[in-house]
Amino acid sequence: MKAPSEQSGRYQSGFGNEFATEALPGALPAHQNSPQRVAYGLYAEQLSGTAFTAPRSHNRRSWLYRIRPAAMHQPFQRAAKGNGRIVSSFDEVAAPPNQLRWDPLPMPSEPTDFIDSWVTMAGNGNPQSQSGNAFHLYACNRNMDGRYFYNADGELLIVPQEGRLAIFTEFGKIDLEPLEIAVIPRGVRFQVSLPDGSARGYICENYGALLRLPDLGVIGSNGLANPRDFLTPHAAYEDVEGDFELVAKFGGNLWTAKIGHSPLDVVAWHGNYAPYKYDLRHFSPIGSIGNDHPDPSIFLVLQAPSDTPGVDTLDFVVFPPRWLVAENTFRPPWFHRNVASEFMGLITGAYDAKAEGFAPGGASLHNCMTGHGPDAATFEKASAADTMKPHKVDNTMAFMFETKLVICPTPHALSAPQLQSNYNECWNGIQKHFNPEKP
Ligand SMILES: [Fe+2]
Repeated sequence: MKAPSEQSGRYQSGFGNEFATEALPGALPAHQNSPQRVAYGLYAEQLSGTAFTAPRSHNRRSWLYRIRPAAMHQPFQRAAKGNGRIVSSFDEVAAPPNQLRWDPLPMPSEPTDFIDSWVTMAGNGNPQSQSGNAFHLYACNRNMDGRYFYNADGELLIVPQEGRLAIFTEFGKIDLEPLEIAVIPRGVRFQVSLPDGSARGYICENYGALLRLPDLGVIGSNGLANPRDFLTPHAAYEDVEGDFELVAKFGGNLWTAKIGHSPLDVVAWHGNYAPYKYDLRHFSPIGSIGNDHPDPSIFLVLQAPSDTPGVDTLDFVVFPPRWLVAENTFRPPWFHRNVASEFMGLITGAYDAKAEGFAPGGASLHNCMTGHGPDAATFEKASAADTMKPHKVDNTMAFMFETKLVICPTPHALSAPQLQSNYNECWNGIQKHFNPEKP
């Protein structure tokens, strides 16, 4: 057995750039994608993330130079039901228009790796039509030793909440910690280890168009998530043989195949279809410096556009530490109802629209046209705040998966012990202040 090549912790900067990286000198062909013979006896293989004929500005593909082609494995068999909590169709139960909120998922009592720990909470669309999303939680305590995984159904946006993830992908190694996110593109094989022994977080499985940086319009050419802060790993490989398992999520189901070698055997690659990570602490928030406050789209990190301009199948939005300075303004998120549906999570601290009950690792769901907003305690406090003084919202990081499609909770999510049966009561204490005699 040969040790993996040492390229951990080194990254290339930029979003969707045409990267080129090699773990052995001269492994990358100089000018051709598929020369007759590749250096070091490697095989050339293309991985396409968009249609061949997609416009050049959106066309994403990479060329991989690997020890064995990806086709080498035993036939896949439908995996045993597993934990039975990974769901890819969302019509089993009627989606209620209620506000829903869940406590954090507990750590498993049995050894459970990253893939086996997924619990689908909600979603929409399906992988067959390549439209929609699934929102999963994970809580795991075992390394994926001898197991490799890829997802043919969608790209994975991973949001750690507790514990680091060491993600060894075909394209190189990503070390991920809470307050960072990673995106693993559709089809990319990877393995997750747990440097802290356990980990918990959120996953958005995006069946739709690839996530991209939003246009900035009148904001200009800087701000929000800047391209240089997105990091893609350098090539790293392992040359290892053994009795391993390759797990695929395909068509909504898990499939398993025996594989006699590590599929993480890409010695060099070039292209613009690759995994990346981003540190949410680098997000440059923009907000009101006068009065009122803008829509939460101002906090957009990444978007998956639909066929309708300006309407996304997925918006990934963060609410980071920031100064609130707007005067004569109700500063927390106001009461609202949207055409969009919102699945929220909290990585650390408290969310500024809720006084209590929304714990780090927890989740909430406010569906299309469902009224929500600050709870009673937050409303009273913010209504009485001195808005001539700036206020720092600090030590917090909340996020939202927002979509144009109704988000349907899974049967498991609606029966889970973590579901808060009294969530709606947080608005019950809101007082009637109306007095027609007192303008
Ligand atoms: Fe909302």
